[in-house]
Parts: sequence; C-alpha cells; structure tokens
Amino acid sequence: MPVPIDKKVRIAHLSDLHLTGRNDLRQIERLDRVLAEIARKGYDHLVMTGDLIDSANPDDWLVVRDALVRNGLFELSKATVLPGNHDLINLEEELRFYHALNPDDSGRRQRVAQRLERFCEVFRPLIVDDGEPGACFPLVKVLHFGGIGIAMVASCSVLPWSGSDNPLGARGYVPPPVLQALGSREVADALSDCFVIGLCHHAYRVYGTDALLDQAFDWTMEFKNRDEFLRTMQSLRARVVMHGHFHRFQMYHADGLTFVNGGSFRYVPDRYGELVIDEKGHWSHRFLRLGE
Ligand SMILES: [Fe+2]
Ligand SMILES: [Fe+2]
Repeated sequence: MPVPIDKKVRIAHLSDLHLTGRNDLRQIERLDRVLAEIARKGYDHLVMTGDLIDSANPDDWLVVRDALVRNGLFELSKATVLPGNHDLINLEEELRFYHALNPDDSGRRQRVAQRLERFCEVFRPLIVDDGEPGACFPLVKVLHFGGIGIAMVASCSVLPWSGSDNPLGARGYVPPPVLQALGSREVADALSDCFVIGLCHHAYRVYGTDALLDQAFDWTMEFKNRDEFLRTMQSLRARVVMHGHFHRFQMYHADGLTFVNGGSFRYVPDRYGELVIDEKGHWSHRFLRLGE
C-alpha cells in the first residue's frame, strides 16, 4: 500500500496514574476524559509507563483495563503498558507482614515476579497478539503504520523491595541478562528499519542537586544500572526513551539519547505527552493540555 506523503505516526504518552481502585471515581472520570480525547484525535498508539495503580492490588489494574476497553484502546496496535514499582510492590505489606529484617530476599523477588505475571495476564492482549500464555517483559513490539515501522522495546525496571538496598521500593533495576538479550545483534538487526522507542518506568535522571537531602532522596528512587540500560538502548539505536516514576513532565538528554518523562496523570490529569514521527524518522515531542 503506498504511504501517504504526509504520513506521520502520533503516539500519546501517559504515566503514573496511581489509581486507587473502583471507588476512585474522580480519577476514573478524568482518565476517561483523557483516553476519549486520545481516541477522538486519532492517535496511532498510547503508551503508559507504569505506576498505573497505587498500592499493588491486582484488582485495580482491571479498572485501567476497563477504561482502555471503554475507549476502544485495548488492542495490541493501540496501546502499550508496563508496570512501575507501585504496580508490583506493596510497601506496607513488605514492612508489616514479611519480616523486613529477614536477610533472605527470595520471597521479595518471588512476590514481584508473581505480580508481574498477573500484570501480564491482565494486559496480555497488549503484549502479544496470539494470547500466548507466559508472554511478558521484556517486550519488543513492532508495529507498522502505513510504511513507518515503530518498535517499542519495553523493560520492567522494578527492583524488589529490600531494607538495605531499596527501602522505599522505588529504586529501579533491569537485570543484566535481560539487557544482554535485548542488546543482542539479532534484536538490533531485526529492528534496524524501525524507529525504536525504549520504554521503562524508572527515570534515567532524578532531581539531582548537591544538597545532601536531595542526594539521599535521589538514592531511594534512582535507576541503579541506568548506564547499562542506556548503552543497551544505544546499541538498538533507540531514538527516544519514554519513562515515568519521577513525577515531572520533562525532556532531557544523556549521552546523546533523548529521554521523555511523562510526568504524572495522578497529579496533573489534563496533561499528556505527544510524540510525532514522520516517514524519514524525523520526530518531535510536546506536552499538551486536554483540548489543545
Ligand atoms: Fe509514580
Ligand atoms: Fe514509580
């Protein structure tokens, strides 16, 4: 099929919804409003980069899923979602019920792995088109819009809770074997004709000042192996990485790679990001308000 000369791919980005369940009526109504606008404006795809819910109760993902279904966005080609720390770690539960001082981390890792499995069950139609059981993260999704190939390379960057290493459950980490698999020559070759977008929850860059208090705060939510992640994205020739976690709408650069932080729907529910890509691979990004 010939590509219309002015074909552009438009991707909407929301992050950090922090929905608190079916009774969170005000936020659900706001979510419907923004999803309806995204559908009405004919965006080619929607990306949501984690912390979809607030307290890791798997039932709450159904609220997000239902909102996507209601707005006609619950399809592989229409949306990509990934989990954040608030999707996979219930901090209170870790502190109160699971022996916070227990040096054995296996239970903590297992709880995150089980929740991730459940997350992938709930959102499976957005992960794989044939419903293959077990399909999960990392996820490489290639979509063609007209003649423009877009590859979403999505990683789960949630590090299990640990009293000494991750006391707020907010630090990020992508296991090295995952990065090695993603960064392999085969994957890079397979994506060579695509515009590659990296996706994760954690921020390459958090606030960062010289003040000791800020440094301590940064440590609790930093992406531990961000530079390995960055190198993997570079080896895939990613053009942009979209993330959330640090609730700020911003774009910044690190070693030549552009990062876009999608801010937080929870705190600013009428703002979202828009990435526009043309057939030559030129792209632009802006944050806009509902109705703009
Ligand atoms: Fe968040
Ligand atoms: Fe987060």
